[in-house]
Amino acid sequence: IGKNIIHKESTTSTQHIAHDEARNGAAHGTIIIADEQTKGKGRMNRSWFSTKGKGMWLSIILRPEIAPQQAPQLTLLTATVLADVLQSYCNVKPLIKWPNDILLNNKKTAGILTEMQAEQDIINYIVIGIGLNVNQSTLELSEEIRHKATSLYIETEKENSINALIQEILMTFEKSYDQYIKNGFPDIKQKWESYGFKIGEEITIKTIKDHFHATFLGIEEDGALRIKRTDGSIQRLYSAEIDWFDK
Ligand code: BTN
Repeated sequence: IGKNIIHKESTTSTQHIAHDEARNGAAHGTIIIADEQTKGKGRMNRSWFSTKGKGMWLSIILRPEIAPQQAPQLTLLTATVLADVLQSYCNVKPLIKWPNDILLNNKKTAGILTEMQAEQDIINYIVIGIGLNVNQSTLELSEEIRHKATSLYIETEKENSINALIQEILMTFEKSYDQYIKNGFPDIKQKWESYGFKIGEEITIKTIKDHFHATFLGIEEDGALRIKRTDGSIQRLYSAEIDWFDK
C-alpha cells in the first residue's frame, strides 16, 4: 500500500482519478492524493468540502481477492484504522457512527466512500476514498455542516501535519489490511464495535420510506446494521441512516 502515490495539487475528485487509473491497470495499493478537490464526493450523492491544504483527501485502489459481498468489510476496516490513528492524536476517544463516519466529541471529522467495480462475482477493483478534516477552524467549515462537523484542529487546538497523518494512516492501513487477509473479519468486527457510536442504545433510524426507533445491537459479518425493533424482532439493515441528535 502506498508504493505508488499520485499527487495532484487540485482535481475534481480523487475518486474520479482513482477510477481512471484503476481502469488503466494501476496496481493494488496505488494512492491518489489531492491538496484540493473542486468536486469532492460524499456518500448518497452528497458533496464533500475539500478546501486546499485543510484536510486529507485521498483514495486507495485495492484489488483484493475476496467476494464482492465482503467489500463492506474493507470500509469498516478503514474506519477502524482512522479511529486508531485519531485516537493517538487527541484526548477524546473517536467513535464510528455506522457505517463509516468518524466522530470526535460526537461531531464528524472523517468520512469514507467506497466504490467497487466487479463483474460476475469477481472484484476488478475497489476504490476507498477518505476525507479527513484536519486544519479547518470552525468558521472554515461550511455553514451547512458546522453544527455536526469538526476537525482535528478544533478538537486538539493545534495545527497538524497532513503529511504525517497520511503516512500514519497508510502504515496503519497496511498492517490492518494484511491482518484481515490473513485472519479474516472477526478482529475488525470486534474493534469496530469497540468504537461503535450508540451500540447498545436506542437510536432513531431513517430509511428511504421509514423512520423508527430500535436498539443498536452491533454489526454483522457483512457489515449490516444489527438492530432490535420495539416488537422484539431482530433485523439487519444495509441501507439506512442513524439520526444524529437523538433525544
Ligand atoms: C462521506 O462521509 O460521505 C464520505 C466522504 C468521502 C470524501 C473523500 S475525500 C477523498 C475522496 N474523494 C472524494 O471525492 N471523496 C472521497
